[in-house]
Amino acid sequence: MKNILVIGSTGQIGSELTMKLRKLHPEGTVVAGYIKGSEPKGRLLESGPAEEADVLDGEELLRIVKKYHIDTVYNLAALLSATAEKRPELAWHIQIDGLINILEIAKDNRCAVFTPSSIGAFGPETPHLNTPQDTIMRPRSMYGCTKVATELLSDYYFHKFGVDTRSVRFPGLISNVTLPGGGTTDYAVEIYYAAVKGEEFVCPIAGGTFMDMMYMPDALRAAVEIMEADPSRLVHRNSFNIASMSFDPEILSAKIREHIPGFKMHYEVDPVRQAIADSWPDKMDDSCARKEWGWKPTYDLESMTVDMIEALRKKLKISTIEKAGV
Ligand code: SER
Repeated sequence: MKNILVIGSTGQIGSELTMKLRKLHPEGTVVAGYIKGSEPKGRLLESGPAEEADVLDGEELLRIVKKYHIDTVYNLAALLSATAEKRPELAWHIQIDGLINILEIAKDNRCAVFTPSSIGAFGPETPHLNTPQDTIMRPRSMYGCTKVATELLSDYYFHKFGVDTRSVRFPGLISNVTLPGGGTTDYAVEIYYAAVKGEEFVCPIAGGTFMDMMYMPDALRAAVEIMEADPSRLVHRNSFNIASMSFDPEILSAKIREHIPGFKMHYEVDPVRQAIADSWPDKMDDSCARKEWGWKPTYDLESMTVDMIEALRKKLKISTIEKAGV
């Protein structure tokens, strides 16, 4: 039986991961942890327990871990890259002081911990094409600094105290459920909303800027599978490159135009996001994840685009006929 705490359950990943974990573990408990102002609603609230779980409040976290006999923590609390550039100290506080609170509790209560890393952990000196699993990590963004420190601390608690920490380096994540906020890769989500609504998209990232991206169902599967992996096969732990597709805004908009012919886009490049994007890999090599725990993506750009457009049309209640301008 699994008893899981998801910290950040109302965020972009958490809102879907919590529901997936509840389906996978009907006999266990999956607690939706949230912060004040981001309370769970609807199915997320009705389908299981919810607790205020601020990563900066260690006492509160400990109370929840003891109350529900938590054995696994998904720590998804974070400021994304562009927001972290505006509030670097707060990003460090949440991502690192918060992580230490969780790792300390995990050490004393024998919990496994998943804290995502990201393509943001890499920097301009990293090889951008087929970025190796083990390579130069000198990010220039505060988000990246926190992600490298997260990887190091997570490995430290594993080697020093035996805490079962594991993680993946997520590419930009694309979903049709909860919007991201303040990330460099957010454009790849927003573009679909604009296209489905029949609006022209103003792209903040320049044409020719390639980044790894992934459809949310694959990302959720990765988060579950890495925690279920046979530990004896893991050479790495924090954190694994995982990849499924790499594109730039030109390729993405052309793909959307195949399905929504009238779609238009123009560029108004945001210099903060562009500098971050330029420092990140174009395409990561995920062969270690494939070898050590059987990672394999299922969606490519075409299948994701078909699914995104269909899901957003339903969500936004826009019919195909209306969208085609008939
Ligand atoms: N999606 C994140 C961001 O753009 C990267 O992991 O900040």
